[in-house]
Amino acid sequence: MKLLLAKRTQLVTVILVAACLVFIGALAPDSVVLRRKLMESNNSVVAEALNKAIKEKNFAEIEGKCDVILENMDKVLDFFPPGSLSENSRAKPEIWARWGEFSKHPANVRKAAQELAAAAKAGDEEAVKVRFKALGEACKGCHQSFRAPKPKQGT
Ligand code: HEC
Repeated sequence: MKLLLAKRTQLVTVILVAACLVFIGALAPDSVVLRRKLMESNNSVVAEALNKAIKEKNFAEIEGKCDVILENMDKVLDFFPPGSLSENSRAKPEIWARWGEFSKHPANVRKAAQELAAAAKAGDEEAVKVRFKALGEACKGCHQSFRAPKPKQGT
């Protein structure tokens, strides 16, 4: 009887694990879409808005956009579940092989965004420019190691 129960528990465990794997598999393509959306809102939207705000010396706007980056960086790792790759994805498999290193990058970006926000708050135009550049470098830090180059046009 005990043996039977143990077997049954084992079976239930196997089924649960299998179900989870199917679930993760179904989730993976969505993660790619979601994180690309998140990156887009970081780049095309936030970086351009930041550029414009810096030109216009709109310090309140700069601070606001830094908040968006901070929020994005809180979420970004959730959008990289193990093995979430697709044809369209430029994510490198190294992400999961070197997760410890990968997962440190959002904190670097956070720090850079906080420093930019502080410079904006102080109304320090020169510091804002320097910090904005540093923010870009922080984003690049992760891309350089973990994002594959763009596929060649037409292939
Ligand atoms: C933790 C690492 C990491 C950080 C930090 C990071 N990125 Fe990315 N980013 C990636 C990876 C990996 C991809 C490729 C994702 C894919 O194609 O599946 C990517 C893709 C992108 C893309 C392309 C989106 C697309 O549709 O192809 C843009 C734009 C982008 N990132 C901007 C930024 C900006 C701006 C920052 C900083 C504010 C930033 N990223 C911070 C890892 C990171």
